[in-house]
Amino acid sequence: MVSIQEKAVPVSGFQYLPAPMGASESRSPNQQLLPLTARVNELDHLEIGGCDVVTLVQQFRSPLYILDEDTFRSGCRQYREAFARYYPGEFLVLYASKAWNCLAICAIAASEGLGIDVVSGGEVYTALQAGVNPAKIYFHGNNKSQEELRFAVASGCTVVVDNWLELRTLAAMTADQPIRIMVRFTPGIECHTHEYIRTGHLDSKFGFDPDQVEEVFRFISGQPILTCCGIHAHIGSQIFELQPHTDLAGVLVQWLVLARECGLELTELNVGGGLGIRYTEADDPPSIDEWVKRVSTGVASACEAQQLPLPKLLCEPGRSLIGPACVTAYTVGSQKIIPDIRTYISIDGGMSDNPRPITYQSSYRSVVANQMSAPMTENVTIAGKHCESGDILIKDAQLPVTAAGDILVVMATGAYNYSMASNYNRLPRPAAVLVRDGEANLFLQRETYEDLIRHDRLPERLIAPELSQG
Ligand code: LLP
Repeated sequence: MVSIQEKAVPVSGFQYLPAPMGASESRSPNQQLLPLTARVNELDHLEIGGCDVVTLVQQFRSPLYILDEDTFRSGCRQYREAFARYYPGEFLVLYASKAWNCLAICAIAASEGLGIDVVSGGEVYTALQAGVNPAKIYFHGNNKSQEELRFAVASGCTVVVDNWLELRTLAAMTADQPIRIMVRFTPGIECHTHEYIRTGHLDSKFGFDPDQVEEVFRFISGQPILTCCGIHAHIGSQIFELQPHTDLAGVLVQWLVLARECGLELTELNVGGGLGIRYTEADDPPSIDEWVKRVSTGVASACEAQQLPLPKLLCEPGRSLIGPACVTAYTVGSQKIIPDIRTYISIDGGMSDNPRPITYQSSYRSVVANQMSAPMTENVTIAGKHCESGDILIKDAQLPVTAAGDILVVMATGAYNYSMASNYNRLPRPAAVLVRDGEANLFLQRETYEDLIRHDRLPERLIAPELSQG
């Protein structure tokens, strides 16, 4: 028989707090489960950004996304400082805004000196409205529409060209000034992550194939309207390995050499994003510093070997910046105990505000914000409120004894949660607050029932009196 001590049972919510800051070390946000400012206050409540989570829910209701500004800014700075330390040339960090694109988040990233990676006309528009300099906006996507391309080009963004149709469309476009492009290639590099979020292997819908590199370069060099600044590749997301990034650097630098032979002087190299984060204690990603060091030294040494001047180095992290900066707070509701089988605890959100568990079987951890020191003695399943059996946020969660009204906090929900949220079952999308130094600012309003029917149209004949009378 295994004793309770031998089974590594979490003791209390305290175990998820970030390690205290040492004199010299900087804590990499992607290695923490809770945001960097998380602490437990004298009421035994979880506090983030100096704000009591229980009070935030009283004020803004639940479900509620709580975004810690310091953690997000700290990640942005760690990327920039690491490039300044390890890369001898110019660099630009882009925030991959598909992870969470909205005005406030784009504005914070830009204020930290980052550019923005966008993937649709809507994301271009949001970044521009947030005041991001279009010279620092890079537009991705495997099927950009004519309208999206025209909008991005007219706004002065750089287009990351994905395929022949797009390349020919841009080459045929009339524009006042040359169109600034990059070209995306599939590097043929395998990495260990979920199949849906792997993009660099050969069987991928993104980018030109490696055997087309030369043809693409020769085509571009004959198009006066196109100014090609460089090449791009992205190998996948939630990656813990460093070796694929070194391999990628080698492949991309070879292609820079090939471009030169084709008469193209490329000055930028974009190595994509992909650094993973800690969702559970089993996850052990490298730090931002370690990732940047590997990427920088990989590119610099490959260039030295090829006697190539150093390109401006770009990367585009999403998850590792925004993921660990946010938690989602829910209110506990009904419980269903099935003896000897399972206890379900239902919360007031679910797959509409966090579709990752049902989509990718992603694991999360949670704490009860109003009883942080209570021993986690219960093994329960946290269920969403959607009419779907698969709407489970956490299977086999360790929690203290909970009752209706408790505030359950799911950690590391900043990346691909709000951005993939839906109105399934006509649940309004939750609000999001930005917390810092004890202040909370609403930056995404909770949707209302009116919002839900804003785009509904009731054709005239359906409101005829005889119909409404049944
Ligand atoms: N650059 C490109 C071209 C990308 O496709 C992506 C992510 C990134 C950068 C940012 O990768 P990150 O640093 O966030 O790993 N919805 C999925 C993730 C999809 C990733 C899509 N591309 C999820 O929730 O896990």
